[in-house]
Amino acid sequence: MRYNHRNHAGNAGDVWKHFILAEVAEYLLAKEKNLVYIESHVGYPEYALEKPGEWQNGISNCWKRLDVLKEFSYFGILNNMNPSGLMNYPGSAVLVLKATEKVGFGLKADVWDINPEVAASWHDIALPGADKFRFHLGDGFSGVRSLMDSSDPALLLIDPPYLEKRDLERAVDLLKRGACSRWTVLWWQMADVDAIPKKYCNVKMYSANFSDFGMSCDKWRGAAMILSGSDDLRDHVNQRAKNFLRIMRCPEPI
Ligand SMILES: C[S@@+](CC[C@H](N)C(=O)[O-])C[C@H]1O[C@@H](n2cnc3c(N)ncnc32)[C@H](O)[C@@H]1O
Repeated sequence: MRYNHRNHAGNAGDVWKHFILAEVAEYLLAKEKNLVYIESHVGYPEYALEKPGEWQNGISNCWKRLDVLKEFSYFGILNNMNPSGLMNYPGSAVLVLKATEKVGFGLKADVWDINPEVAASWHDIALPGADKFRFHLGDGFSGVRSLMDSSDPALLLIDPPYLEKRDLERAVDLLKRGACSRWTVLWWQMADVDAIPKKYCNVKMYSANFSDFGMSCDKWRGAAMILSGSDDLRDHVNQRAKNFLRIMRCPEPI
């Protein structure tokens, strides 16, 4: 069975994942000016949002609050990409590219996906800045591991589809290795995680119930993003996530 993220782009899980990813990228860019970005399971560069779609119970629900939300990096980027209404959605890697462009800094990225159709979309992409990406067709877990010894400290996103049982243990292994190499690591899950290796690294889990912020996603109740990074970064993201959830929980202004 092959996973296709096209069916899920912009759903409630993506909103939580991409909100935190953009916050982390923005924070690191303010410190470093240039970003090295690595992603083990990248998916397509961009998605067209078509009806019906999971995004209608996800990002669509935020659109009504855009005036308040667009101060957050993720929503600001989406707003710029969609001047005539919500139609286009960035994959995680393009979101990071847009975050670097917003502040005018550099990006060097290595990204993996195992699906040849995804590879073709990266090959054919006509997006300014696409030359910043090196796309690798193959297994992202072993690909990222092979890079860890030679690359500068990077921001790593681990976002497997969990179609294989061992995805979970391989993700934990990559999280540990990244943290030991002093990388900033984000790891996404559609449910709470009990396998976080707190013993090995500075880790914080940001979890959210979709119903708490007016969203839903098939059978899933919520999602969690796990971050291994500096104390300051973890505190910063904590505060920003709280602010976002507070806005989404408030009734809409009349
Ligand atoms: C959840 S999607 C990625 C979504 C993307 N990170 C985003 O947020 O926009 C997971 C992707 O992993 C790919 N995949 C599955 N097994 C893989 C593996 N072993 N190595 C690399 N990619 C894999 C799938 O083809 C799919 O595109």
